[in-house]
Amino acid sequence: MRADTRAQLHRAVLNWYAEQGRALLWRRLPAEPYQVLVREVMLQQTQVTRVERLLPSFLERFPTLEALAAAPLSEVIRWWQGLGYNRRARLLWACARKIVQQHGGQIPSEPAVLQQLPGIGAYTAAAIATFAFGRHDVPVVDGNVRRVLERLWGEELPMRMLVQRAAEWIPHGASERWHQALMDIGALYCRKRAPRCSECPLQRWCRTAHRGVHAKPLAQKSEPQFNGIPRRLWRGRLLRLVAKAGRVTLEEAAAVLFGTPPTPQQRRWLRTVADALVQEGLLRRQAQWLALPD
Ligand code: ADE
Repeated sequence: MRADTRAQLHRAVLNWYAEQGRALLWRRLPAEPYQVLVREVMLQQTQVTRVERLLPSFLERFPTLEALAAAPLSEVIRWWQGLGYNRRARLLWACARKIVQQHGGQIPSEPAVLQQLPGIGAYTAAAIATFAFGRHDVPVVDGNVRRVLERLWGEELPMRMLVQRAAEWIPHGASERWHQALMDIGALYCRKRAPRCSECPLQRWCRTAHRGVHAKPLAQKSEPQFNGIPRRLWRGRLLRLVAKAGRVTLEEAAAVLFGTPPTPQQRRWLRTVADALVQEGLLRRQAQWLALPD
């Protein structure tokens, strides 16, 4: 694409964002690095509307990095309830501790350094560098941004190449707005299924507009299920139960979750779920009891 055409596209997207971008909670707040860290970890796997609902109370309970690092893990897990994928609660807590211990409580601004922290992958490192520290040269590529760019370019690329090209496409000095706009476009128009090309501000330049979805097979990870319910939901149920009760035996938990008496198969399933949570440090075993970690 010619440079002046791309400049036109940039202007259209940034204008669209100024006028029609979503008024998300964090876009109305100052970009404080700790708050950006927390919200971007939440946004890794939780829907925007749910994060908007649960972020304020989490930040009220853990208002600073130091407060989060000093809190017992069990508290953090409790306050994570409702966000799902609880492993992230432990990773975020470990991340806060490591920043306190190894970085004097200052969140690093360099993506390569951020990626050394627990729970921070390439996406989250780029998001923090860009949204909290105003870096303009780091592509922030999550699933939405990737889909928008690949459809725009009419080409699917391996991540390494995609990121390289995405860096060249960042409009000068407007990285944050550009990426936030692409996220909105991905959520509102360039949806995975049933894209709304006719309303999309990128339509004029898009190589796949109206041809709709290019033939990317949707990468569906098949998650183990029990009774037709995915494992992660069983993990959440067990964790919530323990958080509420303080401590339970596996037998009690099985009775609550399945009814009395649980079948041997139900017991076995719950034991594998509990074992994995203990292994990951989200639960603790104390004689026959399951409890939250200290
Ligand atoms: N998804 C991940 N990060 C986001 C952000 N900052 N705004 C909207 N959606 C997002």
